[in-house]
Amino acid sequence: PLTVALGILGLLFLLKLVYTPRNSPPGPIGYPVLGNVPLLLSGNKTATFRKLRREYGDVVGLRLGCTNTVVVNGYDTLKEAFVKHGDVLSDRPNDIVFRHLSDYGKGIVGSTGDFWKHTRTFSLGALREFGFGKRSLESKIQEEVSVFLDIVADKNGEPFFLGAIAQISISNIICSIAFGERYDHDDKEFKNLLHMLDKAFFLTAKATIVNFFPFLRFLPGDMTYFKAMKTNLGNIRAYLQKQIDQHRDTFDEENIRDFIDAFLKEELSQGTSEVLHDENLKVVLGNLYIAGTETTATTIKWAILFLIHNPEVQTKVRQEIENVIGCSRIPSMNDKPEMVYTEAFIHETLRMGNIAPLALQHAVKHDCTLKGYTLRKGDVLLPNLDSVMFDESLFEDPHTFYPDRFIGDDGKLNGTERHVLAFSLGRRVCFGESLARMELFLFLTTLIQRFNLLPEDEQNLPTLEPIVTITNSPQNYKFKAVKLK
Ligand code: HEM
Repeated sequence: PLTVALGILGLLFLLKLVYTPRNSPPGPIGYPVLGNVPLLLSGNKTATFRKLRREYGDVVGLRLGCTNTVVVNGYDTLKEAFVKHGDVLSDRPNDIVFRHLSDYGKGIVGSTGDFWKHTRTFSLGALREFGFGKRSLESKIQEEVSVFLDIVADKNGEPFFLGAIAQISISNIICSIAFGERYDHDDKEFKNLLHMLDKAFFLTAKATIVNFFPFLRFLPGDMTYFKAMKTNLGNIRAYLQKQIDQHRDTFDEENIRDFIDAFLKEELSQGTSEVLHDENLKVVLGNLYIAGTETTATTIKWAILFLIHNPEVQTKVRQEIENVIGCSRIPSMNDKPEMVYTEAFIHETLRMGNIAPLALQHAVKHDCTLKGYTLRKGDVLLPNLDSVMFDESLFEDPHTFYPDRFIGDDGKLNGTERHVLAFSLGRRVCFGESLARMELFLFLTTLIQRFNLLPEDEQNLPTLEPIVTITNSPQNYKFKAVKLK
């Protein structure tokens, strides 16, 4: 009888894996148990998703192991899903990787519901106080830009790899906001932290497989990516706890120095709660680092690559800098409204860099309908931002780098830049968008003002083919930065 019972249970399990409820989004038939996972493991993922859209339309259903996943394509459908149905489609999946990344639903990136809303609102308030929209933040970024440019100048116009220089500068800005201090580029403790953060991205991408096949996490040995991800997250949180403890020891209510102090002050005045708690603070800080460093640094690398591929764009941005700012002072955010071409260049970099092609997964809060298809509670959603960035109906000749596409006859931005959904959309839109835009503007304008950026070999330009993980990043390339008079 035990064998029969196990057989029936096994059969029911298999049926659940292959059964597709009525009115589900269309998609390719999967293998038993594996579902469509093999589709994502082989070949070029971007090309696979583009092909799926051509075959099945804007809403595509996939079965990834035990999870029903829905890919959302196209500007209008993305808007309908994440803006119109934002109240239903803005949860995060409760899968194994998200659970560990968020320490069981804490922080901003991996939390859901009221906890997410309160943490995001509070963190935004604290950041506004110490950063966003404040002149002090601009001067912190300018300070990092100046260190960054000194390192670039030290290369004396010889070809070099940007390597980790941009990551270090960008993460120093988060350090200033969060801990109230910046580090030297060769500080050992700082380098160690950066190494852990760098690994966090890579390991998370690799560990995702346990979401589809949960038994993998019980494999013996310490070598699975999932275990490495957990160890790495533990190390990052231990470092952050040390920072919090140091802040507690030196806390002065009259002198709030940074984000951690703001959090502690609130905790003292309102009393410890689920949101105002060290464990939540640690995850928030980790979120800001992990989500805020690699993304912006990678965009800077794309921008330099596009500039050496398109010297005429570089000349036009430099001319605008000369007209609006000149050479004797550094760029500031006040210059931005007058620098339409530079803004267009940054929009075009975000579009073609396409660094978060599938944004982050969302989850369905309760059953609802999208474009006539039923989405069920717990389904995972992939916002396919890539489907917008190269959409020919939105951008003519989308594989050409052409900032002028965003400029109207009146010389102003023509509104089409709103289709560049690099920061996603709706309630979960990137938390750090305004900081990232400030960083991009100040880093890139100052770099172009001071240096002529050239390829190592004009006859053999570095490839524009990305390395695809969770993000699209450019392959390592050398370039020359020749100082301008
Ligand atoms: C979320 C892009 C910089 C913090 C996201 C998402 C994208 C994104 C696509 C997913 C939104 C979704 O779930 O639909 C980018 C790009 C950046 C950048 C392209 C730079 C060019 C930053 C910075 C920070 C940051 C500088 C912080 C300082 C976050 C956080 C979330 C997020 C905390 C999660 C938001 C939530 O779940 O409510 N970002 N990001 N990002 N980003 Fe960014």
